[in-house]
Amino acid sequence: MTPPQPAPGARPLPSRPPSRAAPKAVGVRIAGTGSALPSRVLTNADLERMMDTSDEWIVQRTGIRTRYIADRAKGESSYSLSATALTLALESAGLEAKDLDLLIVATMTPEMSCPPTACRVLEAIGGPQAGAFDLSGACCGFVFGLNCAHDLIKSGAYRTVGLVGCDTLSKYMDYSDAGRSTAIIFGDGAGAVVLRATDDTDKGIISQAMHADGGGWKHIYVPECDMDFPCGVAPDPGKLCTVQMNGSQVFKFAVGTFPELIQQTLDKAGLTAADVDMFVCHQSNARILQAARERFGLPEEKLYVNIDRYGNTVAASVPLCLDELRRGGRVRDGHKVMFVAFGGGLTWGSSLWQL
Ligand code: UT7
Repeated sequence: MTPPQPAPGARPLPSRPPSRAAPKAVGVRIAGTGSALPSRVLTNADLERMMDTSDEWIVQRTGIRTRYIADRAKGESSYSLSATALTLALESAGLEAKDLDLLIVATMTPEMSCPPTACRVLEAIGGPQAGAFDLSGACCGFVFGLNCAHDLIKSGAYRTVGLVGCDTLSKYMDYSDAGRSTAIIFGDGAGAVVLRATDDTDKGIISQAMHADGGGWKHIYVPECDMDFPCGVAPDPGKLCTVQMNGSQVFKFAVGTFPELIQQTLDKAGLTAADVDMFVCHQSNARILQAARERFGLPEEKLYVNIDRYGNTVAASVPLCLDELRRGGRVRDGHKVMFVAFGGGLTWGSSLWQL
């Protein structure tokens, strides 16, 4: 094809079209972390009073002893917990709200369907001029968000990105006998990170993965009307707006997929499990975490577990772990850290970082 020619008398076309200067190569660092929990603690003993269950059953099957539940009367909800976690993350990074270029809130329990929860969070932290949107990835939301935010910084489009993982699943729980297999697991919370561009190009993601099996959606879902029930499941008005989970199917999927995902992420990076300083995994069930630890022969201190205190906090579980580890000095600059999650969708994903 002949290139377009200038019209007679027009200025000749420049030999090369003017282009934006190539972005300077940058690395990405985790500049700060923060987390927030609601005020109400729900213990196994509390649940024993609400439904037919026992502390022994819950601890044996899940490893959970307590979880935190948002108290709406006190204004605790997805956006307010997110705002607290993000404020603490900014503080720990030595930054202010106005330094953010972009805010991503990973959640499956947005404050409302419109506006994005991220916009409410922006207002709550002082209304900086920044981009803001929500990311819906269920339990994988935060890890998917890490991969996206990292690559947006790497591209040169943004320098400072806030990422929050927040869920308040208590609003979709049935705290009666009918809901006992899910109500015992889930808790509310929020965790946040602030990611920043750095001149140290060694810092950032070494390898990552994001997967989904759409056919598995029916194993965890929240029906809002009759047509939301999967084929073969009779619509039940008592189940509307409550989490429906086929626990044993998800358990089997997780026990198989979790180690495979870790191995795949290591292989992509040309590393072994021994090269990784810390595995920060979605806290879904202590038995699933234990199986992964044994599969890779990891010592207890290399795969962090806090499910006993918080239960499964969905998109918040990975950043809640990270914040505790970072503040406790167990995750620091120079470490290699793998973030891993799986959950509703079905989805699974990882993000291996050089901090
Ligand atoms: O983050 C999202 C991803 N979600 C997960 O990773 C969840 C994965 N799944 C699990 O963690 C487990 O499947 C559960 C903890 C949900 C359930 O444990 P399980 O060992 O798979 O139990 P089950 O569903 O096979 O049920 C075993 C028995 C049943 O009684 P029968 O039919 O054997 O008489 C249940 O009715 O345990 C009963 N049961 C309970 N008993 C006391 C179910 N929930 C309870 C309960 N207390 N809360």
